[in-house]
Amino acid sequence: MSELVKLIIDEKTFEFPVITGVENEKAIDISTLRKTTGYITIDNGFANTGSCKSAITFLDGEKGILRYRGIPIEQIAEYSTFVETSYLLIYGQLPSEKQLADFSKAFTLHAPIHNDMKKFFEGYPQSGHPMGILSAMVCSLGAYYPELIKPEPSTEEIDMIAVELMAKVRTICAHAYKKSIGKPFIEPREDLQYVPNFLHMMFSEPNKDYIMIPEVVNALRTVLVLHADHEQNCSTSTVRMVGSSWANLFASISAGICALWGPLHGGANQEVIEMLEEIHNEGGDIQKFINRAKDSNDTYRLMGFGHRVYKNYDPRAKIIKQRAHDLLKKLGIKDPLLDLAVTLEEAVLKDAYFQERKLYPNVDFYSGIIYKAIGIPTTMFPVMFAIGRMPGWIANWKEMKESTDSRIGRPRQVYVGKKMNDYIPIEKRK
Ligand code: CMC
Repeated sequence: MSELVKLIIDEKTFEFPVITGVENEKAIDISTLRKTTGYITIDNGFANTGSCKSAITFLDGEKGILRYRGIPIEQIAEYSTFVETSYLLIYGQLPSEKQLADFSKAFTLHAPIHNDMKKFFEGYPQSGHPMGILSAMVCSLGAYYPELIKPEPSTEEIDMIAVELMAKVRTICAHAYKKSIGKPFIEPREDLQYVPNFLHMMFSEPNKDYIMIPEVVNALRTVLVLHADHEQNCSTSTVRMVGSSWANLFASISAGICALWGPLHGGANQEVIEMLEEIHNEGGDIQKFINRAKDSNDTYRLMGFGHRVYKNYDPRAKIIKQRAHDLLKKLGIKDPLLDLAVTLEEAVLKDAYFQERKLYPNVDFYSGIIYKAIGIPTTMFPVMFAIGRMPGWIANWKEMKESTDSRIGRPRQVYVGKKMNDYIPIEKRK
C-alpha cells in the first residue's frame, strides 16, 4: 500500500498520498487539499514546494550531489562536450556518434541570424546591457518562424525550435558584444564547433582570426557544461511557468533570460567580479565586507556565496575553482582577484555566521575569473550563463509539454488587504 500522510483540522482527519522519487526524496501530494479541506498552503519563495515531477536533473544539496540524467556532474565536466551534454539533457540519453554529428552539424547550419534581425542591433544604445538585448532578440526569433509558434507544436517542431535556439543564441550574444564595442559582426564559420565558433565570433576581427588556445576552449566548455541545468531554479521555473500557458518556446526562454538576469541568480557572476574589484580597489580589507554582509541592518550580501538548495560546497564551484587556477597558470596570468577570491573564501568558511547558515561558494564565485581571463567583459557574464543554461531550459519546457498532467501555473495567495469598503466620490474624499 502506498504511504499516506494524515492532516488533522478541527478534529477531522484528511489523508494525502506520498510521492517517492527514485533517489527516495519524499513529497506530500496536496493537489486535493483545497477541494477537501478548504485550505491552501503558503510557502514563501517555494522553498518546500515541488512544482513538477522531472527526470532531467537530480540534486541533493545536503550532500553536494548533482547529476544530469543520472550521470555525476564530475564525469560530465571531465569527459563531455557542451553539445553532447545538451543532447543528453534534451533527449534523455547520451547520443550515438551519428546522432552527435547530426546535432552538432545542425547548430552550424542554423548559426547565422536573419539579415533583417541584424538591423535590430542598430536600434540599441552601445551601452545597452546584453541580457536585455538577448531576451528581446530571443523572443523576436519567433517572428521569423510563425509556423513554429503554435500553442501545441509536434515533437519534430519542438526539436526544430531547440536547434534554432541553441544555434542562434551564441551568434546573438557575440553580435551584442561586437555592437557594445562598436566593431563589425563576425559571422559563424562552418568548420568550427560550438565553443570555438562562439570564441571566433566574439574575438576575431574582419582581417584577423582569433587564435584558439585549447585550454581556453576547454575551460569555456567546462563552464557551459556546468551551467547546463540545475532543476527547478528561478529561471527554469519561469520558463515552465510561461510555457504552462501554452506560450511558445521562444517567448518562454526569453522570460527565463530575464529571470536569470537578476543579481541573486545568474547576474551574480557579474556582481562577484565587481565586488572583488571593489574590495581590491579599497585596499583589500576583506573583513570590512564580511562584517557588512553579517550586519542584519545592512542588505549587503557577499555575492557568490549561499544557495537555496546547496547546504554543502556547490560541486560546480569545486570544479570551476580548479579550472580557474589551471587556466590562469597556463595563460601565465597573475590576477589579484583570484588571490583575493581564495582569501575571501577561506575567511568566509571559517566564519561562524556563514558556517551556521551553511553558506558556501556557489557556481558564480569563480566562473567570472575564467571569463575575465578569456577576455569576456563583465556585462557579458550573465549572458554566458544564459548560453550555458539553454539546454536545461529547453529540456524542462519539452518535458512539461510532453507530460500528460501539466496544467497552467497559477498559485494562490492569502489576501491581507482591506476588508470590503465602499467607493467614496472624489468630492467627499479627504
Ligand atoms: N551573504 C551574506 N548572507 C547571506 C548570503 C550571502 N551571500 N546568502 C544568504 N545569507 C544569509 C541571509 O541573510 C539569511 O540570514 P538570516 O537567516 O540571518 O536571515 C540566511 O543566510 C539564509 O538566506 P536566504 O536569503 O533565506 O536564502 P535563500 O535560499 O532565500 O537565498 C541566495 C539564496 C542564493 C539568493 C542567497 O544565498 C544569496 O543572495 N546569495 C548571493 C547571490 C548569489 O551568489 N547568487 C547566485 C546563486 S548560484 C547561481 C544560481 O543557481 O542562481
